[in-house]
Amino acid sequence: MILKTERLILREWEESDAESLYKYAKNPNIGPIAGWPAHKSEEESLNIIKTVFSKEETYAITIDNKAIGCVGLLFYPNTNHHWKDNGVELGYWIGEEHWGKGLVKEACQELIKHAHDDLEINIIYASFRNDNQQSKRVLEKLGFKNYCKLKSKDLSGNEIQEIAMVLEIK
Ligand SMILES: CC(C)(COP(=O)(O)OP(=O)(O)OC[C@H]1O[C@@H](n2cnc3c(N)ncnc32)[C@H](O)[C@@H]1OP(=O)(O)O)[C@@H](O)C(=O)NCCC(=O)NCCS
Repeated sequence: MILKTERLILREWEESDAESLYKYAKNPNIGPIAGWPAHKSEEESLNIIKTVFSKEETYAITIDNKAIGCVGLLFYPNTNHHWKDNGVELGYWIGEEHWGKGLVKEACQELIKHAHDDLEINIIYASFRNDNQQSKRVLEKLGFKNYCKLKSKDLSGNEIQEIAMVLEIK
Protein backbone atom coordinates (compact mmCIF):
# COMPACT_ATOMS: atom_id res chain seq x y z
CA MET A 1 0.00 0.00 0.00
CA ILE A 2 1.20 3.50 -0.80
CA LEU A 3 -0.30 6.55 0.92
CA LYS A 4 0.23 10.05 -0.45
CA THR A 5 -0.01 13.40 1.30
CA GLU A 6 0.72 16.93 0.11
CA ARG A 7 4.45 16.67 0.87
CA LEU A 8 5.08 12.97 1.53
CA ILE A 9 4.82 9.47 0.18
CA LEU A 10 4.33 6.71 2.75
CA ARG A 11 5.50 3.38 1.41
CA GLU A 12 6.87 0.04 2.58
CA TRP A 13 10.42 0.01 3.90
CA GLU A 14 13.00 -1.34 1.44
CA GLU A 15 16.39 -2.89 2.20
CA SER A 16 18.00 -0.03 0.24
CA ASP A 17 16.71 2.39 2.94
CA ALA A 18 19.27 1.05 5.44
CA GLU A 19 21.78 3.85 4.85
CA SER A 20 19.15 6.55 5.29
CA LEU A 21 17.64 4.82 8.32
CA TYR A 22 21.03 4.57 10.01
CA LYS A 23 21.71 8.26 9.33
CA TYR A 24 18.66 9.25 11.39
CA ALA A 25 18.33 6.34 13.83
CA LYS A 26 21.88 6.60 15.19
CA ASN A 27 20.86 9.96 16.70
CA PRO A 28 20.29 9.44 20.47
CA ASN A 29 17.51 12.08 20.35
CA ILE A 30 15.25 9.79 18.30
CA GLY A 31 15.04 6.20 19.58
CA PRO A 32 15.51 6.27 23.37
CA ILE A 33 12.63 8.70 24.00
CA ALA A 34 10.45 6.43 21.86
CA GLY A 35 11.60 3.27 23.67
CA TRP A 36 14.25 1.81 21.33
CA PRO A 37 18.05 2.13 21.39
CA ALA A 38 19.94 4.31 18.91
CA HIS A 39 21.20 2.19 16.01
CA LYS A 40 24.90 1.29 16.15
CA SER A 41 25.54 0.29 12.53
CA GLU A 42 23.98 0.27 9.07
CA GLU A 43 23.80 -3.51 9.43
CA GLU A 44 21.60 -3.11 12.51
CA SER A 45 19.35 -0.71 10.57
CA LEU A 46 19.05 -3.25 7.76
CA ASN A 47 18.07 -5.91 10.27
CA ILE A 48 15.37 -3.64 11.73
CA ILE A 49 14.01 -3.06 8.21
CA LYS A 50 13.83 -6.82 7.64
CA THR A 51 12.15 -7.56 10.97
CA VAL A 52 10.38 -4.73 12.84
CA PHE A 53 9.65 -2.52 9.82
CA SER A 54 8.42 -5.38 7.65
CA LYS A 55 5.28 -5.72 9.77
CA GLU A 56 1.92 -4.81 8.23
CA GLU A 57 0.90 -1.15 8.25
CA THR A 58 4.44 0.11 8.97
CA TYR A 59 5.47 2.81 6.49
CA ALA A 60 8.62 4.71 5.60
CA ILE A 61 7.94 8.46 5.51
CA THR A 62 9.65 9.50 2.28
CA ILE A 63 10.48 12.66 0.37
CA ASP A 64 12.01 12.22 -3.09
CA ASN A 65 12.07 8.47 -2.31
CA LYS A 66 14.42 9.06 0.68
CA ALA A 67 13.23 7.52 3.96
CA ILE A 68 13.28 10.24 6.63
CA GLY A 69 11.06 8.68 9.29
CA CYS A 70 8.56 6.00 10.14
CA VAL A 71 4.87 5.85 10.92
CA GLY A 72 2.78 2.80 11.61
CA LEU A 73 -0.12 1.07 13.22
CA LEU A 74 0.88 -1.60 15.72
CA PHE A 75 -1.46 -4.52 16.25
CA TYR A 76 -1.64 -6.66 19.39
CA PRO A 77 0.63 -8.45 20.41
CA ASN A 78 3.15 -6.10 18.74
CA THR A 79 1.84 -3.06 20.62
CA ASN A 80 3.91 -1.42 23.37
CA HIS A 81 0.95 -1.75 25.77
CA HIS A 82 -2.01 -4.09 25.85
CA TRP A 83 -4.89 -1.75 25.09
CA LYS A 84 -8.58 -2.37 25.77
CA ASP A 85 -10.06 -4.91 23.31
CA ASN A 86 -6.58 -5.57 21.82
CA GLY A 87 -6.66 -2.00 20.46
CA VAL A 88 -4.37 -0.62 17.75
CA GLU A 89 -1.46 1.69 18.63
CA LEU A 90 0.01 4.55 16.57
CA GLY A 91 3.80 4.94 16.45
CA TYR A 92 6.03 7.49 14.70
CA TRP A 93 9.37 9.26 14.53
CA ILE A 94 11.13 11.51 12.05
CA GLY A 95 14.77 12.53 11.54
CA GLU A 96 15.79 15.52 13.64
CA GLU A 97 16.58 17.78 10.67
CA HIS A 98 12.89 17.46 9.68
CA TRP A 99 11.37 18.32 13.07
CA GLY A 100 8.98 21.22 13.43
CA LYS A 101 7.50 21.16 9.91
CA GLY A 102 4.32 19.29 10.83
CA LEU A 103 5.37 16.33 8.68
CA VAL A 104 4.52 13.63 11.20
CA LYS A 105 1.06 15.09 11.74
CA GLU A 106 0.57 15.11 7.97
CA ALA A 107 1.68 11.45 7.72
CA CYS A 108 -0.45 10.35 10.67
CA GLN A 109 -3.55 12.10 9.31
CA GLU A 110 -3.34 10.05 6.13
CA LEU A 111 -2.63 6.82 8.02
CA ILE A 112 -5.59 7.43 10.34
CA LYS A 113 -7.85 8.06 7.32
CA HIS A 114 -6.61 4.78 5.78
CA ALA A 115 -7.17 2.96 9.10
CA HIS A 116 -10.77 4.18 9.21
CA ASP A 117 -11.72 3.95 5.52
CA ASP A 118 -9.90 0.74 4.52
CA LEU A 119 -9.28 -1.19 7.75
CA GLU A 120 -12.49 -0.23 9.61
CA ILE A 121 -10.55 0.84 12.69
CA ASN A 122 -12.51 3.29 14.83
CA ILE A 123 -10.26 3.71 17.85
CA ILE A 124 -6.49 4.24 18.04
CA TYR A 125 -4.28 4.51 21.12
CA ALA A 126 -0.86 6.15 21.52
CA SER A 127 1.49 6.83 24.40
CA PHE A 128 4.54 8.96 25.10
CA ARG A 129 6.95 9.57 27.95
CA ASN A 130 5.61 12.41 30.06
CA ASP A 131 8.67 14.54 29.18
CA ASN A 132 8.05 14.12 25.42
CA GLN A 133 6.17 17.35 24.74
CA GLN A 134 6.83 17.12 20.99
CA SER A 135 5.00 13.82 20.76
CA LYS A 136 2.17 15.12 22.93
CA ARG A 137 1.69 18.08 20.57
CA VAL A 138 1.48 15.80 17.52
CA LEU A 139 -1.30 13.78 19.16
CA GLU A 140 -3.16 16.88 20.36
CA LYS A 141 -3.06 18.34 16.85
CA LEU A 142 -4.46 15.05 15.51
CA GLY A 143 -7.39 15.27 17.93
CA PHE A 144 -6.28 12.62 20.44
CA LYS A 145 -7.67 13.02 23.99
CA ASN A 146 -6.11 12.07 27.33
CA TYR A 147 -6.77 8.42 28.21
CA CYS A 148 -4.69 7.40 31.24
CA LYS A 149 -1.29 7.44 32.90
CA LEU A 150 0.95 4.40 32.57
CA LYS A 151 4.07 3.20 34.33
CA SER A 152 6.75 1.43 32.32
CA LYS A 153 10.54 0.97 32.22
CA ASP A 154 13.09 2.82 30.12
CA LEU A 155 15.97 1.11 28.29
CA SER A 156 18.04 1.06 31.49
CA GLY A 157 15.22 -0.53 33.47
CA ASN A 158 14.34 2.67 35.34
CA GLU A 159 10.68 3.31 36.01
CA ILE A 160 9.16 6.03 33.82
CA GLN A 161 5.76 7.66 33.58
CA GLU A 162 3.92 7.59 30.29
CA ILE A 163 0.74 9.32 29.19
CA ALA A 164 -1.70 7.48 26.95
CA MET A 165 -4.08 9.23 24.59
CA VAL A 166 -6.90 7.91 22.44
CA LEU A 167 -8.60 8.91 19.20
CA GLU A 168 -12.13 7.81 18.43
CA ILE A 169 -12.61 8.15 14.68
CA LYS A 170 -16.11 9.14 13.72
C1 LIG B 1 7.71 13.68 18.14
C2 LIG B 1 8.06 13.92 16.68
C3 LIG B 1 7.63 12.73 15.86
C4 LIG B 1 7.32 15.19 16.20
O1 LIG B 1 7.44 15.30 14.80
P1 LIG B 1 7.36 16.72 14.04
O2 LIG B 1 7.04 16.42 12.62
O3 LIG B 1 8.56 17.52 14.34
O4 LIG B 1 6.09 17.38 14.76
P2 LIG B 1 5.56 18.88 14.62
O5 LIG B 1 6.27 19.59 13.51
O6 LIG B 1 4.10 18.78 14.60
O7 LIG B 1 6.05 19.54 15.99
C5 LIG B 1 5.56 19.06 17.22
C6 LIG B 1 6.09 19.93 18.35
O8 LIG B 1 7.50 19.78 18.46
C7 LIG B 1 8.08 21.03 18.91
N1 LIG B 1 9.15 21.36 17.99
C8 LIG B 1 9.04 21.89 16.75
N2 LIG B 1 10.25 22.02 16.20
C9 LIG B 1 11.14 21.57 17.08
C10 LIG B 1 12.55 21.43 17.09
N3 LIG B 1 13.28 21.79 16.04
N4 LIG B 1 13.12 20.91 18.19
C11 LIG B 1 12.40 20.53 19.23
N5 LIG B 1 11.05 20.61 19.27
C12 LIG B 1 10.44 21.14 18.22
C13 LIG B 1 6.98 22.06 18.97
O9 LIG B 1 6.56 22.13 20.33
C14 LIG B 1 5.90 21.42 18.14
O10 LIG B 1 4.62 21.78 18.60
P3 LIG B 1 3.82 23.02 17.93
O11 LIG B 1 3.39 22.58 16.58
O12 LIG B 1 2.71 23.26 18.86
O13 LIG B 1 4.79 24.17 17.85
C15 LIG B 1 9.59 14.15 16.49
O14 LIG B 1 9.98 15.18 17.35
C16 LIG B 1 10.40 12.90 16.79
O15 LIG B 1 10.62 12.07 15.93
N6 LIG B 1 10.88 12.79 18.05
C17 LIG B 1 11.71 11.63 18.46
C18 LIG B 1 10.96 10.31 18.44
C19 LIG B 1 9.66 10.37 19.22
O16 LIG B 1 9.55 11.05 20.22
N7 LIG B 1 8.66 9.61 18.73
C20 LIG B 1 7.39 9.49 19.41
C21 LIG B 1 7.49 8.53 20.55
S1 LIG B 1 6.02 8.52 21.53
